[in-house]
Amino acid sequence: MAGMRLLVLGGTVFLSRAVAADAVARGHEVTCAARGTSGSVPDGARLVALDRTQPLDASTLGEFDAVVDVARHPSWVRNAVAAYADAHWVFVSTVNVYADDTTPGGTPATLPLVDAIEEDVDLKETPEAYGPMKVACERAVLDGAASAMVMRPGLIVGPGDPTGRFSYWPRRLAHGGELLAPGDPGDVMQVADVRDLAAWAVTACEQRTTGVFDGVGTPLPMADLLAQCAEGVEPEVTWTWVDQGFLGEHEVEPWSGPASIPLWLPRPEYDGLGSHDVGPSLDAGLTIRPLADTTRDTLAWLDATPDAVVGGIGLDREQELLSAWHAQVSG
Ligand SMILES: NC(=O)c1ccc[n+]([C@@H]2O[C@H](COP(=O)([O-])OP(=O)(O)OC[C@H]3O[C@@H](n4cnc5c(N)ncnc54)[C@H](OP(=O)(O)O)[C@@H]3O)[C@@H](O)[C@H]2O)c1
Repeated sequence: MAGMRLLVLGGTVFLSRAVAADAVARGHEVTCAARGTSGSVPDGARLVALDRTQPLDASTLGEFDAVVDVARHPSWVRNAVAAYADAHWVFVSTVNVYADDTTPGGTPATLPLVDAIEEDVDLKETPEAYGPMKVACERAVLDGAASAMVMRPGLIVGPGDPTGRFSYWPRRLAHGGELLAPGDPGDVMQVADVRDLAAWAVTACEQRTTGVFDGVGTPLPMADLLAQCAEGVEPEVTWTWVDQGFLGEHEVEPWSGPASIPLWLPRPEYDGLGSHDVGPSLDAGLTIRPLADTTRDTLAWLDATPDAVVGGIGLDREQELLSAWHAQVSG
């Protein structure tokens, strides 16, 4: 379907920007509505500068066949749905809407949700309101739009990632040598390439796909996931697996931040977070590129973007930890 009029609420950073870029490349007429403070919109897309703390003015924005929204605040979504109730909606939510992070193989049909928070909450002060507010946003879209798909991403990775979480691995792999691999090689994890989710969102707009789906990649044992990532970079690497008890004792953080090893999640409490069943999403149109491509392209983006954020511990800290680990296992 060429020539769709698409409104991207966002479009200046990462996933919503990738959605706009994908839609422009397919020949659609793309309008992005954002303040414009997070970055630029892709070439070929139109930016309408606005602040969503104020109600949307549809007479300024125009008419649209489809809307993609990534908002976190329920009032923003309610306002936009009221303005564009006749369009097809794709709302980008999160797996943080689930009340169960422990059960592997979950899907939207099997996992319970957290209770909704209907009012807007400042996420800097109350970050735990993120999932509950997304539940309220989802409901506003599903109840108010003529037709809608909800996509619940897990960890989104790839070029343009502002969080620096996955970026740790391409950067570290490019250095080569002995790498500290966190946790147990059998721990299951999954990541989703931002461009695969973007393409799926645009296809869902074109095809007016309805339903609620997880935006996740193939669940893989960490040993396979990291090995597939390593195929995307040139240096030879060796892996030293360091168990989570040792990491905890040495104050290594899971998941994100400068003291973390990204992708590592404590087990068994997070056995479910990175092991959703991707089958229903594949059936609904998601396609998944090889992890080696994601890693290679993320590294190319990092090399071209000197101010890109890269999370996780540094090389010196990793060497300290590896030395302490080798001393412990040989002693
Ligand atoms: N990253 C992950 O791993 C992950 C995991 C699960 C789910 N998700 C979800 O995936 C989506 C990611 O979206 P994204 O990558 O596009 O990043 P994002 O940080 O959610 O993008 C927010 C967009 O909204 C705009 N915006 C923010 N405040 C605004 C305001 N007051 N008025 C108007 N526009 C405003 C921003 O543009 P300006 O700042 O230029 O206004 C930006 O374009 C989100 O829905 C997130 O919850 C992410």
